[in-house]
Amino acid sequence: MNIVLLGSPGVGKGTYANILSKKYNIPHISTGDIFREAVKKRTKLGRKVKEFLDRGELVPDYITIQVVKERSEKYDAKEGFLLDGFPRTINQAEKLEEFKKIDKVLNFVAPEKAIMDRLSGRRVCKKCGAIYHIKYMKPRVEGVCDKCGGELYQRSDEKPKIIKKRLKEYSRKTKPLIDYYKKKGLLANINSNFPIEKVDKIISQCELALEK
Ligand code: AP5
Repeated sequence: MNIVLLGSPGVGKGTYANILSKKYNIPHISTGDIFREAVKKRTKLGRKVKEFLDRGELVPDYITIQVVKERSEKYDAKEGFLLDGFPRTINQAEKLEEFKKIDKVLNFVAPEKAIMDRLSGRRVCKKCGAIYHIKYMKPRVEGVCDKCGGELYQRSDEKPKIIKKRLKEYSRKTKPLIDYYKKKGLLANINSNFPIEKVDKIISQCELALEK
């Protein structure tokens, strides 16, 4: 099954995608993760996208679409995938349809206050990319990843000014996708306003939507 995860920055898409990816045995494809990895490794792609990530702006469509096309055509995605962070514009959604059929779109919804709180406390493992939160998903040892022992860090686009810019970009360019997919009959809204200890309440809504 080919699934798109929609929702504001910080709503928890990456967290839920990790769980769903294991449950359904399909890869979690996150454009944000792909770009950050490329920046870290200083590849040609990384050099092209770094300035956009640092400013909290969307990477141009011609770059992003090519990246997703190549990744989604890999062998591990032949039974399906979870697309996290793509599409983010109507143009990206239209181009996506030219190379992949989308079966379901899960739109995660939470109040703005919860989103700001989640974003400002997020920590990510430098080595394996696991996601933590300083209040809600603490690692066993502060600053150290439970899974691989890697160092936890705060993303460079997590400064208040850049967070605001990302939320504005989301409202202007990505929110219209909610209507776009609703009209196609593919959208399911998922209430993500549950604390992380109750993440199963969020996941069970996803399962219900995916079974329909
Ligand atoms: P990207 O990495 O996609 O960032 P984003 O959409 O802003 O999403 P986030 O990763 O910030 O949030 P999330 O919803 O995954 O939340 P998470 O699970 O981490 O994109 C980054 C940049 O790349 C963009 O700004 C752009 O420049 C570029 N880019 C990417 N895709 C692009 C595209 N298609 N086109 C153009 N440019 C693109 O959770 C957040 C925190 O909350 C964590 O700490 C977590 O532990 C915690 N948490 C999660 N759920 C809960 C809960 N229920 N209760 C309490 N805490 C929770």
